[in-house]
Amino acid sequence: MNVAEALKINEQLKEDEILPENKYYRPMVELTRLGMRFPTPKGEFIALKGVDLTIKKGEFVSLIGHSGCGKSTVLNLVAGLTLPTDGGVIVDSREVDGPGPERAVVFQNHSLLPWLTVYQNVELAVKQIAHKQQKGKAWIKEQTDHYLSLIQMQHAADKKPDEISGGMKQRVGIARALALQPKVLLMDEPFGALDALTRAHLQDSLMKIQADLGNTIIMITHDVDEAVLLSDKIVMMTNGPSATIGEVLDIQLDRPRNRVELANDPQYQGYRQSVLKFLYEKQLHPTPQSEPPASTPSKPTSSKPNSAKVTFASDIKRA
Ligand SMILES: Nc1ncnc2c1ncn2[C@@H]1O[C@H](COP(=O)(O)OP(=O)(O)OP(=O)(O)O)[C@@H](O)[C@H]1O
Ligand SMILES: [Mg+2]
Repeated sequence: MNVAEALKINEQLKEDEILPENKYYRPMVELTRLGMRFPTPKGEFIALKGVDLTIKKGEFVSLIGHSGCGKSTVLNLVAGLTLPTDGGVIVDSREVDGPGPERAVVFQNHSLLPWLTVYQNVELAVKQIAHKQQKGKAWIKEQTDHYLSLIQMQHAADKKPDEISGGMKQRVGIARALALQPKVLLMDEPFGALDALTRAHLQDSLMKIQADLGNTIIMITHDVDEAVLLSDKIVMMTNGPSATIGEVLDIQLDRPRNRVELANDPQYQGYRQSVLKFLYEKQLHPTPQSEPPASTPSKPTSSKPNSAKVTFASDIKRA
């Protein structure tokens, strides 16, 4: 093989992104001058302004910021559930103009179909892909079993959602999202409603799944430890109105990450301090001005258990 041929093959490998070092080869998500103005009876409410962010393929990015700053708004814009009033979102080189199969969303309160079993809930997502890829029954069964085993739920495959715990439901919600084979997994406080031990277990599962599948993940969290443990990048948002990105912290901790070992790691502690400093020194708690006008049909953020404050999961580290 001559040099020219070798270079050509190398280029092809890059194109196919099968070289491990090309994990972060191209941007998967690009937010450009992204802004969101909501109409309200008392006038326009500028929730987001001038948000610029590039997320590479395979990166795990956390969004953190005080309640009401605009994290869910950013996620909904990437999901295509809301369309921006300013700027734009590009996912995998295509502008987002609505929801799409390459983006799957996991909410805090997952929505499993209550009349279907755990198996059938996951199977439904697998069938969507099977239909597109013209796969048969055997493939559907194999894939459904695969995703159930990823979340270690084979034993409860025949149970209905109301027969399983909150953590188990959340796992099934994640399996369903993964079964859609999304290029980007969007998670809005996926573990917020769970107890500390279950949350720790799911965080570990998510890290393992991401290492295996290489998904690009954007996750909203209020938990500083969760953000540092899971992320390649922590995006810290300023308080609204006109919220934007205040700082971006690159987390250069080796993977796989072990929460117990990291608890006393100076680098880990340094990252944690940086986030705390941003939240509690540089960004004060949200002021009344950061809320939209009183008559605004805003989301009932106060109903969420974790939404009123940033939480610390020091209890998780002991788990
Ligand atoms: N449809 C809407 N109309 C008017 N205002 C809205 C609308 N949706 C969100 N907002 C406002 O935009 C701001 C950002 O809301 P968002 O839900 O994105 O915050 P958040 O950071 O996700 O908060 P939390 O951490 O509490 O979930 C808030 O002040 C909210 O009240
Ligand atoms: Mg939110």
